[in-house]
Amino acid sequence: MKVAIISDIHANTLALEATLNQIETFNADKIFCLGDILMAGYDPNGTAKIITELKNLEIIQGNTDKMVACFSQDLLEKAKNKFPCMGYALEDDLKIIDEKYKNFVRNLPENKYIEINGLKIQLVHGSPRQQDENIYPNMPISEVEKMVENSNADLILCGHTHLPCGYSLNSGKTVVNVGSIGRSMTEDKMPYWAMLEIADDGTFQIEHKSVKYDNKKVSELIKNRNFKHSNDLAKMYIKE
Ligand SMILES: [Fe+2]
Repeated sequence: MKVAIISDIHANTLALEATLNQIETFNADKIFCLGDILMAGYDPNGTAKIITELKNLEIIQGNTDKMVACFSQDLLEKAKNKFPCMGYALEDDLKIIDEKYKNFVRNLPENKYIEINGLKIQLVHGSPRQQDENIYPNMPISEVEKMVENSNADLILCGHTHLPCGYSLNSGKTVVNVGSIGRSMTEDKMPYWAMLEIADDGTFQIEHKSVKYDNKKVSELIKNRNFKHSNDLAKMYIKE
């Protein structure tokens, strides 16, 4: 069984299409999506259309999907103060995102357990204990152990930080942050995802993959959205 795992698409249709084209060459049986599909990109409705039409998809809600779905004026003001380009992007997103896609992300679960060939897998956005908790590269193993201690999965799949990484824990659990498709924080700014292969006896291999796409074009498209601070958001798509 082959599973492609994607996360944090952030309304970047070009990056999603490039990734799905690459995934097709691996003949994946399923796709898992770990959330953050809509907010702060250039094309939320286009991205949502592709995601909702995918076959053999398991998907959970990300913290920014929740912000779009459960919007309040208070939340918006806090977002604008804390991270201005994100707050103003959200304000503009709320005007253009189709109600059916807001409803779609509103109704997604925060996490999911899936068992394949005896392998217990948990899908989370941040960590098993919190939707917006960061599992970063190079963290002390003991810290990661604590973050996943309430999970009884063998393999925990997460995103949220936009930085791919992985941990084999002393408890026997494996934790893999697959990275981000739509706004990668890696040096190359390219989409990262993970390919999981599970044998009939439940043993598995998981590997990060990346793909090239036209990030400069997306940076321009973001800038052209013209909400306040869209320039700052646009800079996040290109190498400094
Ligand atoms: Fe994200």
